[in-house]
Amino acid sequence: MRDVAERAGVSVTTVSHVINETRPVSDELRTRVLAAIEELGYQPNALARSLRRKKTHTIGMILPDSANPFFAEVARSIEAVSFEHGYSVILCNTDGDLEKELLYTDLLVEKRVDGILFVAAGMSAEHILALEEQHMPVVVIDRDIPDVAVDSVLTDNAQGGLLATRHLIELNHRRIGCITGPSDVTPSAERVSGYQQALQENGIPLDETLIVRGDFQYESGYRATRHLLALSDPPTAIFACNDLMAIGAVCAARELGLSVPEDLSIVGFDDIRLASFVNPSLTTIAQPKHEMGVLATQMLLERMQDRDRPPRRQMLSTSLVPRQSTATRRTEI
Ligand code: RIB
Repeated sequence: MRDVAERAGVSVTTVSHVINETRPVSDELRTRVLAAIEELGYQPNALARSLRRKKTHTIGMILPDSANPFFAEVARSIEAVSFEHGYSVILCNTDGDLEKELLYTDLLVEKRVDGILFVAAGMSAEHILALEEQHMPVVVIDRDIPDVAVDSVLTDNAQGGLLATRHLIELNHRRIGCITGPSDVTPSAERVSGYQQALQENGIPLDETLIVRGDFQYESGYRATRHLLALSDPPTAIFACNDLMAIGAVCAARELGLSVPEDLSIVGFDDIRLASFVNPSLTTIAQPKHEMGVLATQMLLERMQDRDRPPRRQMLSTSLVPRQSTATRRTEI
């Protein structure tokens, strides 16, 4: 920095003000300093600068499964908006392990990120509350954290479960299986409540043997479908609470010699891009993944500018996307 100051004929303090934008500098002096930086190839120390400015222009993003296209698609929108605003993103994958989520939360604080996006956070409030107390800007996406007043971007999961099941009932299905997500995940429970509401409003009795626990992974959809199809009175349709499990369900049906949708209709949830390209293409419930990522990042950037504004809760709608994996129930010939 001293060499730059000498080359530009200014004080080291002026060079610092130009680099850190901590005080207005005349255009003439700024131009001389920037020219000297260019000529000398000076690289200001980003960490030292960030410690002084208390901003690193980085955002932390914590998510439970980076291999799941739903999270990858949300993450891509977060990165795009962050980059547009001059922020880089540190992605932390937790595999749904709360311990790992806590470790990554501490790591991001140590790295002095300017804000943290929790995508589908674990169901613990303590670490989120602790960040709030440290005035670390936080936005929660996809999964509500009970009893924590924090900026949130959620989707109407119950509405999605209702739409999926109504669609199958309109196709004359009455024995409708439901493959749920992990038991401790609010979106899954909300989707199942929508499934139950659709049955109830159509006078279809709830048969608990048709509800099977999954974990949002392909394999659990496969296993749950094999279980359902082995029942003495198997379902003619299945609502899977995410697309990966729905794809696993199609594989299981095929393996048992059943055709989808002729013998078994299947609906998923998320509308990942892959849903259009599997065969048969997947009827599913679309989540506004791009909008979730954009809105959450914008809320975080606004929170960084104004830490005292009241928390906001945005609930986005879901929609049914009919494709090839559902059809009218085949009546006995
Ligand atoms: O596919 C992963 C699921 O976990 C999605 O439905 C998303 O809502 C998250 O909760």
